[in-house]
Parts: sequence; structure tokens; C-alpha cells
Amino acid sequence: IKKRSTPQVLAGKSVIITAGATTEPIDPVRFLSNHSTGKMGFALAAACRDAGADVVLVSGKRVSLPTPAGVMRINVGTADEMLAACQAKMSELLASTDQNQTAKNQVIFIGTAAVADYKTANVATQKIKKTANEGGLSLQLVRNPDILALMSKTYPDALMVGFAAETQDTENYAKGKLAAKNLDMIACNDVSNQAIGFGSDDNAMTVFFAERYQKARTVLPQASKAQIAASLVACMGEIL
Ligand code: CTP
Ligand code: CA
Repeated sequence: IKKRSTPQVLAGKSVIITAGATTEPIDPVRFLSNHSTGKMGFALAAACRDAGADVVLVSGKRVSLPTPAGVMRINVGTADEMLAACQAKMSELLASTDQNQTAKNQVIFIGTAAVADYKTANVATQKIKKTANEGGLSLQLVRNPDILALMSKTYPDALMVGFAAETQDTENYAKGKLAAKNLDMIACNDVSNQAIGFGSDDNAMTVFFAERYQKARTVLPQASKAQIAASLVACMGEIL
């Protein structure tokens, strides 16, 4: 279902996009997660499709949004599962395309998911009982893999797009992530602003580009997530 009016800036491209929150189990009935609803990622998946791309959406399994028509969705739980799904899909894509197709920027990887930075060191196999932990309960957490950073390192020919959710010092942190994860562009928003944060229908973003591009930044004023998504696709089109 392609809107005829949409410029086909991603025609022939393949997009893998992560979205929503990961869930990290504590025991069989509990998990750690966050407020991400997946709206921005799902809107971006639809916008990439509208721009002519083949889109795979690797989504947190608790995202309750409908899958955009024509988009392939893979549901995952943990960050480890999300990483494995992204790697599998990327290998599959690269194996199925000819030499020509593995050229620079043929595949676009977009990380919109709110990936849990930590997981429990050990998942309890049985439900944790409060009577066994009268004095309180400590959970030991260990770092999760950074999916975006690892995909960027493993697949240097893919165009890499990141997101950054910040509550302070937005520009510095976003530019730090752009450089540290070797991204082509990063879209960041200030999640302390209730009107545009998690779960809201609107968003406002500033996009920063890698130094190798002529443009340093693009400011996207508050708009619907669908409109922001279309603008982000236009940004990708500019640097492709
Ligand atoms: N990201 C990821 N895997 C992680 C953590 C983050 O793929 N384990 C991706 C997000 O999808 C996003 C970008 O990295 O595109 C930035 O995520 P963010 O949480 O803002 O930054 P972090 O690098 O995790 O740093 P911090 O949370 O400490 O600010
Ligand atoms: Ca994080």
C-alpha cells in the first residue's frame, strides 16, 4: 500500500528496524521493561515502506500496535533475542542479494527500540517468594549487548540510524552516541517533555548527522509521529 505521492527515496533498499521495549525476565511471572510503546518505530517502519523499502520490524513482543501492512514483523522478548533476530535477518538479507546489492547503504539499520541496558544476572526458574525474602530483595543486573553498536560494527556497509532519548544535555549525549556507535545519523528527543515522550502521538526531534556529511543537523518541530517519520525518511534520503 504505497501512497503515490510519497517520494520513493528508499526504492530498492532493505530496512531492518527495531522497535518497542525489550522485556528481561526476573522469574517466570515477572520482568524488567520500560515505557516505550513502539509508536515511533512502527510509524517509521510504515514511512520506510511508503518510501519504497522492504521493511523488517523487529519488535518487542508486548507492543500492542497493529503491524503496518506489507511490513514483516518479528516479535522478540529480551535484548539478546532482539540482537539475534537482527543478526539473522541481516545475514539472510546479505546472502539473498547479489554482489551489487551488498553495496554501501543498500541495507539500512534503524534502532528505535528502547533496549533494556541491563538484564538480571540469573533468571529464577521458580517464582520468587516474598516469605523467602522478608528483609527485601536485591536483583543483580548485568549489561545487555548494545544492539545498534554491534550491528554497526559487524555490518559497516549498512546505513546506520540511531535514536536517543535524553532527559538532559540532549545535544552532547546524542552526538556522543552518534560517534561512539559509528552512526550515519541520530534522531533525538527530550523524553522529559510529556507532550512528546513515550506513548504520546506527537514527537519533536533534532537529527544530527555524522561529520562526513555536509549537513550537521535538522530540527523537526512538534508534529505527529507519522509526520516525524516521513521527515526522518527524507533525512535518510538526503544522505544516501
Ligand atoms: N540501543 C541498542 N541496544 C542497547 C541500547 C541502546 O540498540 N542495548 C540503541 C537504541 O535503540 C537507540 C540508541 O542505541 O537507537 C541509543 O539508545 P539510548 O538508550 O538512548 O542510549 P544508550 O547508548 O543505551 O545510553 P544511555 O541509555 O546510557 O543514555
Ligand atoms: Ca539505554
